[in-house]
Amino acid sequence: MQTETKSFLACATCHSRNVTCKLKPMSTKKSQINLLNHSEAKVKLFGDYIQKYLNIICNDKYTKSIHIFDLFCGPGIYENKGEGSPVIALRKIKKTFYHFIDKRPIKSPKIHCHFNDIDQEKIEILDNHIKNKKLHYNNFGNLNLTNRDYIELVNELPTKFKAFKDEKAFVFIDPFGYKEIKAEHILNLLNCNNKSEVLLWLPIQFMYRFSKAGTPDVLKSFNSQLNINNDELKNEWEYISALKEGFENFIGENYLVDSFTLEKEENTIFCLFFFSSHIRGYEKMLETKWNIDTEQGRGWKYDGNQATLFSSLETNKLEEFLIQILKKNQKTNEEIFEYTLRKGFLPKHTTQILKKLQTENRLILRKKDNTKVRKGAFYLNYKDYKDSFDKLTIKLK
Ligand SMILES: C[S@@+](CC[C@H](N)C(=O)[O-])C[C@H]1O[C@@H](n2cnc3c(N)ncnc32)[C@H](O)[C@@H]1O
Repeated sequence: MQTETKSFLACATCHSRNVTCKLKPMSTKKSQINLLNHSEAKVKLFGDYIQKYLNIICNDKYTKSIHIFDLFCGPGIYENKGEGSPVIALRKIKKTFYHFIDKRPIKSPKIHCHFNDIDQEKIEILDNHIKNKKLHYNNFGNLNLTNRDYIELVNELPTKFKAFKDEKAFVFIDPFGYKEIKAEHILNLLNCNNKSEVLLWLPIQFMYRFSKAGTPDVLKSFNSQLNINNDELKNEWEYISALKEGFENFIGENYLVDSFTLEKEENTIFCLFFFSSHIRGYEKMLETKWNIDTEQGRGWKYDGNQATLFSSLETNKLEEFLIQILKKNQKTNEEIFEYTLRKGFLPKHTTQILKKLQTENRLILRKKDNTKVRKGAFYLNYKDYKDSFDKLTIKLK
């Protein structure tokens, strides 16, 4: 691609690369010119996750190539100097490379980036910015910038992923709206031998509002794919739960899905849905989410006061779930580990609850090898999930 050497920022209205462009009409959406607070939070989650993902995959001693796809990437840099997803991804890749890959004697994976936006000018801005800020070097992996329609790419990628041997892919889908997105896209992207993960951003507020009044056909078909009955929904939060459940049913038990909610000042709710075909990657995503905000497990709520702590209140919902399942039947450490994650909580949360129930003498615990059960040890971790799935069984008295 031909590029210029000067630094440009995007005006999303006239597409000029002049920061002081006077052509911007009043109607121009602020979110297209500046990176807003909710987008900052979104990009932060994306960046934190990419970092964890790279750390794990680069250390798995197996993967030779990692592919990062940002299918609606935008220009990477905004007028208010906010950085968008492709730039954040490149910063994380650069950090991973110099802190870690470059220093090792063993062969480490290449990290290939594919950034796409239908708007050619945005891709040019991104290209210039990457070059000016020296964000990419060829020894990291390939950098592929394209300006194709999402729909073409999303239909091509599954075939590509299915041919992966020692490669992994992470796909970020960040549209302005929801019109292009279909649940089957997600399923097709995941259905590739546990090689891929997907992060999808949806404008819940708009979708919910439209679901209630004069639902456009495209939203009707989106909702009906996921078996969502608009009439039963009382608010946006119920819509998010219905979407999560709908996705869970649509993609099936082999895959995991969780949601992460962002609420803007003026009551505008957005939601990131995270899909994984691998429980380890999914656990890491949940850790990232809980690190950013632990409020009620519903995600980061933007109110200018981002610091929220994991309080005992938030475990109540999980405690209810646990009591419900442990009352019926005994469960193994593997089942409880998976159950906890599928509910969007972390093993350490369940451990806290089980410790409390144990102190109250409400648990029957049995180890497979009949050795003495150590107090507070419930084996809720990935290693035991994989290697000693029935080390311990737990039931409520
Ligand atoms: C919400 S923005 C992406 C923001 C970006 N992820 C960031 O962090 O800055 C959505 C982008 O999708 C692009 N777009 C719209 N329709 C598209 C399509 N059909 N295929 C690919 N890109 C599209 C727009 O030009 C816009 O830049």
